[in-house]
Amino acid sequence: MKIGILTGGGDCPGENAVIRAVVKRGYKYGYSIIGIKRGWLGLINGEVEPLTNFSVSGILPKGGTILGTSRSNPFKKEDDVQRVMSNIKKFGFDTLITIGGEDTLSVAKKFYEMGVKVVGIPKTIDNDLSGTDYTFGFDTAVNIVTEAIDRLHTTAESHDRVMVIEVMGRHAGWIATVAGIAGGADCILIPEKPFEIEKICKLVKSRHKRGRGFSIIVVAEGAVPTKETKFVTMDESVDAFGHVKLGGVGNVIGKEIEKITGFETRVTILGHIQRGGSPTAFDRVLATRYGVAAVDLINNGEFGKMVALRGNAVISVPLEEAVAKLKTVDLGLYDIAEIFFG
Ligand code: F6P
Repeated sequence: MKIGILTGGGDCPGENAVIRAVVKRGYKYGYSIIGIKRGWLGLINGEVEPLTNFSVSGILPKGGTILGTSRSNPFKKEDDVQRVMSNIKKFGFDTLITIGGEDTLSVAKKFYEMGVKVVGIPKTIDNDLSGTDYTFGFDTAVNIVTEAIDRLHTTAESHDRVMVIEVMGRHAGWIATVAGIAGGADCILIPEKPFEIEKICKLVKSRHKRGRGFSIIVVAEGAVPTKETKFVTMDESVDAFGHVKLGGVGNVIGKEIEKITGFETRVTILGHIQRGGSPTAFDRVLATRYGVAAVDLINNGEFGKMVALRGNAVISVPLEEAVAKLKTVDLGLYDIAEIFFG
């Protein structure tokens, strides 16, 4: 059995832990594991490298992905689909393990429908994939953001400032909500709940009246005001999946708060710091369990599925279910966060 493995989309802490687990589990079954470079691009261009127990030794705690990644989409060009199919044949892949978020796994689903035997592993710091309680990488991002909020808290308090912290989350505000609760945010703005700047300012002013001279506002990059439908973006460009580059809503909100309330306001955009570096213990274990489970699925002859976490059990769900719709924030959890606003 020859398994090709790729990592696609934005990188994510824990990817190397998955790759290591796949190689080591595969070795036990006598399978050969071949790494595909830079996501789907490696299958378009035919860039692969064999992975051995030796080549994955020591990568468990390392951030990023030793295979490289890209946001390439073979379905943008008919030629690329054919190139992927002929490279799968050329390299003799019996099956593919695709590690990715909604974009990478949607592509995997399409190839599965074309007869390719694929298994998916859910990866994204955004935690917005359906079918699974958690994607690996999310816990690490939440911990990074929580630490940042803690640090901003002390300087905010010393200077009597409003601190706006912009975090990742395009269509789902999971990182903002969970890290916001953990860090004791005074207000959390997420894409699922359009915001009114006047309400935020009222909340900040009422804190001041009560003698709390500082406020912590956590905002997901995809948050939008009620009267707006457009995201704040870095520029007009879109990637191969049609996504814009988000970023800057924190600056817009910070300026407005300062203008309306007159309180000194600072903005921190955490950006890719949330995706870099070493995975937490939780993500290392989850990624390891996912890697082992993916190879076990292959060994059982089960394809077109994604491994997933349900409660504390690793199960599998059809790829179709995983990519059918984005998993947005549980509004019950947001209600809990809201109790602590102001
Ligand atoms: O992978 C998801 C994500 O982390 C989003 O939250 C964010 O909008 C995007 O990646 C940023 O991607 P890039 O690395 O291409 O700037």
